[in-house]
Amino acid sequence: MKAIIIYYTKTGHTLDAARDIAAGMEKNKVTPEIKNSKEIKYGELAGYDLILVGSPCHEGSTAPLRSGIARPLELFLKSIPKGFLQGKSAAAFSVNAGLGAKNTVKSLEKLLKQAGAVVVYSPGPAVRAGIPLSLWRGPDYNSKDKDKLQRFGSEITKNK
Ligand SMILES: Cc1cc2nc3c(=O)[nH]c(=O)nc-3n(C[C@H](O)[C@H](O)[C@H](O)COP(=O)(O)O)c2cc1C
Repeated sequence: MKAIIIYYTKTGHTLDAARDIAAGMEKNKVTPEIKNSKEIKYGELAGYDLILVGSPCHEGSTAPLRSGIARPLELFLKSIPKGFLQGKSAAAFSVNAGLGAKNTVKSLEKLLKQAGAVVVYSPGPAVRAGIPLSLWRGPDYNSKDKDKLQRFGSEITKNK
């Protein structure tokens, strides 16, 4: 199984989450690529069976007014033509400082479905780290959330 984790981050917490998810996947001998949404074009997704997307919650507490997805990742997902991800498995995760990551996950899952992917684990994990406007790096997520992310990684790759 070829897997990729696409993320956006401002202060590093979402990249940490991507790495913990990858550690969970490694337990099933799946080594995902981890890429910033700014470094990838949608056409490259054709080469993967499993696509994970992770975003910090940006204004997710104001849903449904906002999607809660960080703008660069949202633009990337919206650049994927409808149906392009047909036959692919996908899932989403998010990090927030307080409130809203569940909305971000829901919005990410919606865009994945619009692109044609099958969301194989829903809702994906929402964990808590950072500070409200990400002016600087805040506290890391706790060990319970770390376990949650790793378990998510192994769950979605167990039937590879
Ligand atoms: C523009 C902006 C909007 C944000 N909105 C929210 C929010 O609605 N709820 C929340 O809990 N955190 C919010 N945050 C904080 C981030 O979700 C949090 O700090 C997260 O850990 C940052 O992840 P990162 O280090 O991967 O960038 C916001 C941050 C920014 C920059």
